[in-house]
Amino acid sequence: MTIRKAVIPAAGLGGLLYPITKVQPKEMLPLGRKPAVHLVVEELVGAGLTELCIVTSRGRRAIEDHFNFATGPPAFGADRDTFPAALVEDYAHVSFVEQPEPRGLGEALLRAREFVGDEPFVVALGDAVITGTEAPGGLVQRMEHTAHATGCDAVIAVRNVARAQVSQYGVVTPIGDPLGKAHFMVADIVEKPPIEEAPSTIAVAGRYIMQPLIFDYLEETPPGLGGELQLTDALRRMVHDRESVWAEFMRPGERRFELGNFLQYSRAFIHFSLNDPEVGLSVKEYLQQLIGG
Ligand code: G1P
Repeated sequence: MTIRKAVIPAAGLGGLLYPITKVQPKEMLPLGRKPAVHLVVEELVGAGLTELCIVTSRGRRAIEDHFNFATGPPAFGADRDTFPAALVEDYAHVSFVEQPEPRGLGEALLRAREFVGDEPFVVALGDAVITGTEAPGGLVQRMEHTAHATGCDAVIAVRNVARAQVSQYGVVTPIGDPLGKAHFMVADIVEKPPIEEAPSTIAVAGRYIMQPLIFDYLEETPPGLGGELQLTDALRRMVHDRESVWAEFMRPGERRFELGNFLQYSRAFIHFSLNDPEVGLSVKEYLQQLIGG
């Protein structure tokens, strides 16, 4: 079955980016010319997904307003090529659900259970932007291919990170040696392990394909790290129950930017500015001037 639906969790409080995140979610921070969540929606549209559901935190309306024709000056609305609503009106339908309390990624996902219904679906974290795919949405398309080819219950996008970084991510244990493979079966997965306990340096990258079965597991998973309901913990229970879970490697050249803290955000913004077709060269010259001087 072709996958049509995606859930974009975007309900974190962005505490490490306060006060930027006092009134706006971090997913609205600009990366070059567009907010991060806009780039995530473009990626999913590129992957052929047509039904998107964004999970927002209570009282923060900025993302909803961003994709709404009715808000914003009419002059912007007149230009359908650049106005974000054109993206969603012409290619995909976007709906919103609220997560009332910040109770974790797993709990945010549960809020979208009704939207998902009984179809397989994509989860794309709204604060993780992927660039450098051979075509927009290429990573998600490869994951979809793996899901079809294996008939598995979940596919998780992963990449190798430096050992010093493993405690920032979900970390997977492969079955067999994954070296040189595009995808592999997962033997175990653990959320943000201490460096010395990490089973590998293969980190969860923020794109998942799942069957609705995950919701049954989420319902039964107790709060984990930080007192939050962790998606990783629910996936771990699935793996332990011998449900088949696969991981898909990001390819060399594919890059992932996240917005967890100010250094990550600064790097991401600089990357997008440097790659802007109109001002990229000037930005580069400016940076060279600053650093050289
Ligand atoms: C979440 C997931 C984690 C994953 C990460 C990717 O963590 O829980 O497994 O590796 O996203 O960005 P968060 O960054 O929301 O703390």
